[in-house]
Amino acid sequence: MSDLANLEKSALAALEACKDEAALRAWHTRYFGDNGEVTQALRGIGTIPSEQRRAYGQEVNRIKGSLLTAHEAAKERIKEQALAESLTSGALDVTLPGRAVPRGRLHVATRVMRRIGAIFADLGFQVYRSREVEDDETNFGQLNMPPHHPARDMWDTFHTTTPGVVLRTHTSPGQIHVMREYCPRPIRVILPGMVYRYEQVTTRSEMMFHQVEGLAVGHNITMADLKGTILAFARRMFGQEREIRIRSSYFPFTEPSIEVDVSWPVVDAESERLTKGTGWLEIMGAGMVHPVVLRNGGYDPAQYSGFAFGMGPQRMTMVLYGIDDIRLFWGNDLRFLSQF
Ligand code: PHE
Repeated sequence: MSDLANLEKSALAALEACKDEAALRAWHTRYFGDNGEVTQALRGIGTIPSEQRRAYGQEVNRIKGSLLTAHEAAKERIKEQALAESLTSGALDVTLPGRAVPRGRLHVATRVMRRIGAIFADLGFQVYRSREVEDDETNFGQLNMPPHHPARDMWDTFHTTTPGVVLRTHTSPGQIHVMREYCPRPIRVILPGMVYRYEQVTTRSEMMFHQVEGLAVGHNITMADLKGTILAFARRMFGQEREIRIRSSYFPFTEPSIEVDVSWPVVDAESERLTKGTGWLEIMGAGMVHPVVLRNGGYDPAQYSGFAFGMGPQRMTMVLYGIDDIRLFWGNDLRFLSQF
């Protein structure tokens, strides 16, 4: 009986010393395995003299029960300890801000082009894409500028090594392509795209920049339609307060020809400089399509009339955002690009 008391005492102490599940398993084998100490004590019941056997058997079974209960409790304790440990040691700080993934976005020039496209879409104009590499004849000749016409001096031109093939100096040759494709149907299109000029690059002029050409051809189209279209555009683009101002001008492919300014209140030094202190910003050249150009497109000028305009989105963007150097647009400097 005293052996049994010792067995219980030492088994409980050994259980207390178990620190993990492996130790717990070893403990279980040591006492309850095939040759375990408790197993052997149970087997020994039969060898005990009969008068002590009953008390001995009861005591062995009581010890077995109490040790198994204690073992269950220890298992639970070790499980909780392991959980608490994993929570504190591999601590995950859920309040730590995540790492931001750098996100690309559309170039400011693309965004302004899309805004212009959306405004003209509301006004009923479709987008027409026209080539950037043009022949001399379409870029100039068909637009009423035969070779050696002095008006060609208005455009500094990139000539390719193929004679008569140039990079378009303006989007106006697109007018010829649209008219030839649509004739004799009425036309209302804008032609956005890149144009190229062999120019000294400065803060105000680039050798490549966007233009948005507009063309409307139909019956009874007048200067009033042109004015109304431009005013509607300027108000949507620059705000409800904008007025437009029309000055007479000259282009070989429009008659009469105009240049259009949009009112720009001089509120700070920036806009003072961009509008040269006048409060007006020039946004486009425009006019009524010249009869020669209509005829080149296949339309009879006795029956059809039309207006055309060509605007520079980069200039408008400069004023909208106070950008003071046109070279920033294609300079690919992220410090500039990420501001929009
Ligand atoms: N193509 C002219 C330019 O680039 C602008 C323009 C377009 C003028 C259409 C009148 C009509 O300067």
